[in-house]
Amino acid sequence: MREVVNDRRLLVPAGRRLPKNRPHEGSEKTNRDDALRPQKARGSAGMVAELCAAEETHWWYAGLQNLIARIVRMPDCRLPARPAVLDVGCGTGANLRLLGQCLSPAYLGGFDLRRDCVTRARQKCPAAEVYVSDLRAPEMRQRRYDLVLCCDVISSIGLAQCRDGLRAITSRLSPEGMLLVHVPACPRLLGTHDSAVGTVERYRPDDLRSLLDELGLAPQILGYRMSLLFPAVAAVRLGRSCLSKRPNARPRSDLRASGGIGSRVWRAIVAGENLATSRGFRWPIGSSLVAVARRA
Ligand SMILES: C[S@@+](CC[C@H](N)C(=O)[O-])C[C@H]1O[C@@H](n2cnc3c(N)ncnc32)[C@H](O)[C@@H]1O
Repeated sequence: MREVVNDRRLLVPAGRRLPKNRPHEGSEKTNRDDALRPQKARGSAGMVAELCAAEETHWWYAGLQNLIARIVRMPDCRLPARPAVLDVGCGTGANLRLLGQCLSPAYLGGFDLRRDCVTRARQKCPAAEVYVSDLRAPEMRQRRYDLVLCCDVISSIGLAQCRDGLRAITSRLSPEGMLLVHVPACPRLLGTHDSAVGTVERYRPDDLRSLLDELGLAPQILGYRMSLLFPAVAAVRLGRSCLSKRPNARPRSDLRASGGIGSRVWRAIVAGENLATSRGFRWPIGSSLVAVARRA
C-alpha cells in the first residue's frame, strides 16, 4: 500500500507529487518539531484501524513481512547477535513484532508520528519501546543501532523533508549496521490508492541510490519488487486514475480486497518472488523498491 526537498535533482526524478491534502490527523506535536512545517495528509484514524487489521491478513503485507524475514536471514545481510533494532515510522507494529521474532534483539525500538499508531504498535509488540517522534527531527534512545528499518515512510513525507533525519539516524549505525528501506516505485503510478494511504511520492531506483550515497551507505540490495504482479497492479492503478478524474470521485485504497483464493495465489507469487530476490535475482520493474545498505 505503500510510499524526499532541498535538492531538486532528487525531487524531479521522483516524478509527480500528489496535491497537498488535509492536515495529518492524529499526528502529535513533539517538543522538537516546532521548527518543522506541519506534515500534510497521512490518512485518518479509520485508515489506521484499517492498516492495523490489513497487516495481519492482507497478502501485500504478508509479502513485505516475508521479504524482511528473508533479508535479515541472508548470509550477506547477517547482523551481530542480539542486535539493536529501530523501526522508523513503525505504523501499527507488525514489522516490529516480526523483527523481535526473527532477531531476538537486545533492543527493539520504534517510533511513529501518530499517537494512535504508537498505541497500536505497543499492543502488537509489548516487548518493544515504541514512542512518538518525527523522522524529520528524530528522537533516538540508543547510541548505536545494528538495523534500521524504514518501510514506506519516506513516501509519506517526501524525500527532501526526511533527508536530515535519515542522516542523523544512519550516523548511529554500528560499523556492521544495516539500513533497510522500502518505498513505492514508479512515479507514473501515483494515484488514488496513494492518496488514500497518504503516499505523496513514488520513486525510481536512482532516487534511492542518490539517497544512500548521500548517507554514506553502499547498497547490498537495491531493486524492484512486486514485479510479477506489476502488470495487474499497473493496469488497476492507471485505470483508477482515469476514473478518478470524474467529478465526485473519492480516493480509494487497495487494502480492502484481502481474502479468497486470489489472495492466496498473490501471496504465493510474492513469496516466490521474494525467494528469488533473496537469492540475488534483480527484477526489471515492480511497484515497490527495496534497498539494503551498509556503511560504504
Ligand atoms: C505507510 S505507513 C508504514 C508503516 C510501517 N512502516 C509498515 O511498513 O507497515 C507510514 C507510517 O509512517 C508514519 N509517518 C508519517 N510521517 C512520519 C514522520 N514524519 N515521522 C515518523 N513517522 C511518520 C505514519 O504515521 C505511518 O504510520
